[in-house]
Amino acid sequence: MKISGKAKIAGVIGNPIDHSLSPKLHNYWLEKYEIDGAYIPISVEKENFSEVFKALPKMGFIGVNITVPYKVDAYNMVDEVSKTAKKIGAVNMVIFDKKTGASYGTNTDAYGFLLNIEKKYEGLTQKGPVVVYGAGGAARAVCAGLVEANAPEIRLVNRTQEKALMIKDELNSDNIKVESWAKRSFALKNAKLVVNTTSVGMKKGEELPIDFTDLAPDAVVTDIIYNPLKTKFIRRAGARGNRTIDGLGMLLYQAQPAFKAWFDKQPEVNDELRNYILKS
Ligand code: ATR
Repeated sequence: MKISGKAKIAGVIGNPIDHSLSPKLHNYWLEKYEIDGAYIPISVEKENFSEVFKALPKMGFIGVNITVPYKVDAYNMVDEVSKTAKKIGAVNMVIFDKKTGASYGTNTDAYGFLLNIEKKYEGLTQKGPVVVYGAGGAARAVCAGLVEANAPEIRLVNRTQEKALMIKDELNSDNIKVESWAKRSFALKNAKLVVNTTSVGMKKGEELPIDFTDLAPDAVVTDIIYNPLKTKFIRRAGARGNRTIDGLGMLLYQAQPAFKAWFDKQPEVNDELRNYILKS
């Protein structure tokens, strides 16, 4: 790796940060494109976040990614916020102005989600109803992306229905229809795309209690969880013949615009990169 005294420095802030794949991903690209730069993990306690964030441009950082649990804190702290981040109410990527240190925050999660789907099945989000399970931060980004892509019908289903209603209200789209948790399996009828954004499936043996009987054979099922790569949700859909997309692509694609903005190079997402990350 080439790091000189002039190296451009970026990183990712979160807590915990030791499981983040972003350092591996960005440093892979830095090496591949022979860029004089580094991307480092920064673990910060809640009470220190604001102080650390403000110090970053003074230390010469050109930008940072923000991950759990600081995406909303960063949203509230940046000097300027993008339209997308405003819709989602969270920032996952920051650019610092070299001269003034002013911070610009945006959100590339919706972009990453959409590209991961579109690269495999172009136009899929337009073809019919999309079912989204969950109403946390990730669901907000996924729904914002779907609304932006003009998905004709987004059926939003969450165990706590009020949270789904809040997302509908904030994104202010008639295309979002909130369904009750009791009707979670019924909501699959004639859906073309099904997305799990809940955290169910991260732990071994965990499974979202959805009955796939009403799921059409041509529907595509995706999970934004990438560890494990094949959640039970994905495996169960695949076993009955549905096409599936795992969540790793979303992670890779959301990183693309950040790398481009900081290091001035559009990095490639391909199988070689996927395999490299999977080996980590
Ligand atoms: P993130 O920001 O990653 O989306 P989050 O804000 O903690 O994480 O949201 C987690 C989501 O998983 C929520 O939609 C949550 O449902 P509730 O709003 O009802 O809590 C969902 N979730 C977590 N555990 C669940 C479970 N056992 N069954 C169904 N949904 C669950």
